[in-house]
Amino acid sequence: MAASLKVAIPKERRAYERRVAATPETVKKLAGLGFAVTVEAGAGMASHYLDDAYRAAGATIARDEAATLRDAALVLKVQRPLNKAEGADEIALIPRGAILVGLLDPLGHPAQAAAYASAGVTAMAMELVPRISRAQSMDALSSQSNLAGYKAVLDAADEFGRAVPLMMTAAGTVAPAKVFVLGAGVAGLQAIATARRLGAVVSATDVRAATREQVESLGATFIAPADAVDAAAKTGYAKELDKDQAAKQAAVVAEQLKKQDIAITTALIPGRKAPVLITRDMIAGMKPGSVIVDLAVEHGGNVEGSKAGEIVEVNGVRIVGHINVPSRLAVDASALYARNLVNFLTPLADKAGGLKINWDDEIVKGATLTRDGAVVHDLLKKA
Ligand code: NAI
Repeated sequence: MAASLKVAIPKERRAYERRVAATPETVKKLAGLGFAVTVEAGAGMASHYLDDAYRAAGATIARDEAATLRDAALVLKVQRPLNKAEGADEIALIPRGAILVGLLDPLGHPAQAAAYASAGVTAMAMELVPRISRAQSMDALSSQSNLAGYKAVLDAADEFGRAVPLMMTAAGTVAPAKVFVLGAGVAGLQAIATARRLGAVVSATDVRAATREQVESLGATFIAPADAVDAAAKTGYAKELDKDQAAKQAAVVAEQLKKQDIAITTALIPGRKAPVLITRDMIAGMKPGSVIVDLAVEHGGNVEGSKAGEIVEVNGVRIVGHINVPSRLAVDASALYARNLVNFLTPLADKAGGLKINWDDEIVKGATLTRDGAVVHDLLKKA
């Protein structure tokens, strides 16, 4: 039998990142595929997975990143490695010929693909795994968005100076909070479900017509202009609204916001800056003490005046812009993401410690950014 390929799990080095790309559970699964797993010392510390647990699961612990990556055939990361311009050059530590898999944000940082190519690294981006039913268990966007949607509601409740549920006490009744969710994709639907569980009265809006039924099935009210057109693209994602439609949507949103206590915005359009859904004027119309959580803050923001990494207050309305919300639930976010990775790698493994990759497979092709020293992904070649 051929020697087992080395799988490396380095510590994440970007700011605000507490997640790790493997847990003791997935180290066992990777070992079960025949791989030899090396984890950098302390890689799981920020998400409470300790070196001893990795060791007990069969991993070797390496003292630093260089030792972790030396001779690795597969490198599993959460975020894209640091590049030369950012100080520590993590790409340079990845062996030529190795495969790097992570949430590489290829559309946000298209230039980094060239660096993988010239380093001879085959880079695969988990964000670009096609959302077909065969790949559902590999869908890292969904696993992380689910947690972000949940956490957004808790973050809002935390900043809110009132209770969320209806409370009947001897001293009188506390009215339930009204929560409005803008964007009912994976994060938005989880936010609706979470707000409902906390006892809020929930409404939501989206530009894809299919979301109405999903919103209503969670017990929330769907808000949209009476003559809204379906803005779902063929890809299943949202298209940008035309001027007329956007104005009608804005009018409906402005009216709804006046009556709300909490707004959670999650709207994204792939490859573009996030649409602005809540303007300064709308914020001025909200009740003091209201809270807005902008989950799109790192993609340009859905809320005028939101700031990444900050909580700002405008006319008594708090606008929360936490960075890397999934990482704020690092234990579960790591566990789900690490399973997404194992599910992605399992079809690529020959089960004898090696790899047998069908480069024409829809999933592999969808995720692969670079190969044989060249940028090969259509989306990046165009960019
Ligand atoms: P996303 O993160 O790209 O966007 C979030 C939400 O914002 C979407 O629902 C989008 O329609 C909405 N949005 C965009 N512009 C808006 C605007 N101006 N106003 C209000 N809402 C706006 O979306 P996510 O969560 O990644 O889901 C996108 C699609 O992918 C959905 O159709 C979802 O059902 C589908 N999906 C399919 C999966 C599968 O089949 N395996 C798994 C997960 C998602």
